[in-house]
Amino acid sequence: MLFNSCFLKSIISDTVLSYLNNNEGLSDLYCLSFSEFNKHRNKIAKTTSILLMDVDQSSLDNLIYQGWNLHRGEPFICRIIVCDEQQFPVLMRKLDSWFRLGCIVLPANISWVVPQRLREADALACAWETSAAANYVARCNLKGHYVELGTFWGKSCFNSYHELRHWLRGRFYAFDSFLGLSRPMERETIATGGDFSEGAYCANQQSFLAIADILGIPKDQLKVVSGFYNDTLNGTSPHLYELEDESVSVCFIDCDLYEPTKLVLDFVTPLLEPGALIYFDDWRLCRASRQFGERAAALDWLERNNNFELVEFHRDIWQHQWFIFQKNDA
Ligand SMILES: C[S@@+](CC[C@H](N)C(=O)[O-])C[C@H]1O[C@@H](n2cnc3c(N)ncnc32)[C@H](O)[C@@H]1O
Repeated sequence: MLFNSCFLKSIISDTVLSYLNNNEGLSDLYCLSFSEFNKHRNKIAKTTSILLMDVDQSSLDNLIYQGWNLHRGEPFICRIIVCDEQQFPVLMRKLDSWFRLGCIVLPANISWVVPQRLREADALACAWETSAAANYVARCNLKGHYVELGTFWGKSCFNSYHELRHWLRGRFYAFDSFLGLSRPMERETIATGGDFSEGAYCANQQSFLAIADILGIPKDQLKVVSGFYNDTLNGTSPHLYELEDESVSVCFIDCDLYEPTKLVLDFVTPLLEPGALIYFDDWRLCRASRQFGERAAALDWLERNNNFELVEFHRDIWQHQWFIFQKNDA
């Protein structure tokens, strides 16, 4: 199926179109609703890109559980461009099996990831009109690195980049398995109604990097470390990733579970500068437990480092919590 450029321009934004053009994503492009997919799948070749249109709930279920199950030998699809804004976040959660096989999944419009207003904001607008974190970074003169531990396909990382890029002088680090969650404790799965399960929140590095590319994030400012923290952080010197002591100004933790949060906190211990911001996405999610989840790992970390203090800073919703990190050395 070939499309004229007017049709494509009406459903895909310019930045995404030019990315596809530069990466041969338009050469073999199919535009399919889910119902059409079944009719055409024999024709789909290895290099196919697909535009997904009209994603309603029943066709989504069909996609996941029947027609497109790659484990049953469906053809490989190299790129999926989701053309349905409302379903985009849902699809990013449900496409695990494609992510695992290396399929790149993109939104048809990059503003669904970072709003245009934020992409175009200048330094003052970022400091005063975006977030409490950006305001703090600007007003307290923080200039180091940003590290995010638990990025999924990059929504929070790319929004943070745009909020902080005029003020921080360091790099933006993304640490993730790109294979989803490691194995949770049973209590973490129960306390989240099954949301925290092994392999959940899997997105691949290729999609993360493609979205970064479309957003125009300079390659030398973004450093991606792919792998489970047990392999990438446990006993690893931060110098391997060019991270010096007290060089991190913002540490964004969103790896959901006790075990990875523990590894992450031990890794960043020497890296946090006094006054750095530290964020826990799931501070209260596991029922604010003292035994499991991110908060429990953080409280254990504070016990191991009794000169550390987390000064409560900001929260937007009940689940999240920002702190200011302080060291009370003698
Ligand atoms: C909830 S998602 C992050 C969402 C992201 N911060 C956002 O808001 O857009 C949790 C992430 O933690 C990562 N993760 C969990 N356990 C991990 C581990 N042991 N090693 C590496 N990454 C892990 C998962 O791969 C997943 O991408």
